[in-house]
Amino acid sequence: MPDLIVGSVPRGEDYFGQEALIEKLRSKLSKDNILLEAPRRFGKTGAMYRLLDEPREPFQPLYINVEHIMSPADFMIELVAILLRNNHFSRLINVMWEGTKGFGLFLRNLPSSIDIGKLKVELREKTDVPQEWISYGERIMSLLAQDGPPLLLLIDEFAIMINHIALRDREAVEKLLRWFRAARTAPDTQTRFIIGGSVNLISTLDALGLVDTVNDFSIERLKPFDHETAKQFIEAIFASRKVKIDPEVSDIILELVGT
Ligand SMILES: Nc1ncnc2c1ncn2[C@@H]1O[C@H](COP(=O)(O)OP(=O)(O)O)[C@@H](O)[C@H]1O
Ligand SMILES: [Mg+2]
Repeated sequence: MPDLIVGSVPRGEDYFGQEALIEKLRSKLSKDNILLEAPRRFGKTGAMYRLLDEPREPFQPLYINVEHIMSPADFMIELVAILLRNNHFSRLINVMWEGTKGFGLFLRNLPSSIDIGKLKVELREKTDVPQEWISYGERIMSLLAQDGPPLLLLIDEFAIMINHIALRDREAVEKLLRWFRAARTAPDTQTRFIIGGSVNLISTLDALGLVDTVNDFSIERLKPFDHETAKQFIEAIFASRKVKIDPEVSDIILELVGT
């Protein structure tokens, strides 16, 4: 029975009534990358966590929230760090840079117990990932194309990151978007992306003359619960608190707060 989650991410049985959405996303993923768009608090992060918590073959999902990121270099550090924290992907990366100096040496000296925050600091301070982010991005994407289970990368608040970077550096945002598009449309890629955004990515990019950099995404707009699902949710929440309610009560709640 679901518990009422207010504010944090609803997971497990607390994530209610979105089976059809999740199935739709999963079936789109066989062919497409997805832009998940809706205002704040519609359940975008919840949907991403469901795909993360219940991975389905063949994908190996990873989740990053990029709301705080202000530069392409920091985006790449976030990506490299999350891949290095995953057993399978870190093995691939280690093999690729095996025996090399520079980044290879950095990887060999990395304590296996390092936490992700420290890892990001080390990547920023002790490697050339910040300066050479495009070339790391290209090598990693081609690495992911070659071997093992395909990565499903869930990138939350992508639109906010793009806004942040665009405000500081138009050229940087264009470089990042063009690299990202090339990564998605590479003929041999098996990686899939779902990007989430509460601000309108398309209109932001339109103003910058960069809409063509995202025109390959399949757009999925999250809607509020339909009436019936909203009603079932209210009933399930009261039941989980062992409170009996008359059917009129859930009607009145719906009237007052909407679906
Ligand atoms: N499917 C759902 N089941 C239960 N609660 C939900 C669901 N979707 C959204 N919520 C509620 O909305 C809040 C915001 O959800 P979240 O996934 O963080 O939205 P977004 O990422 O779109 O801002 C959650 O804390 C929860 O209260
Ligand atoms: Mg969110």
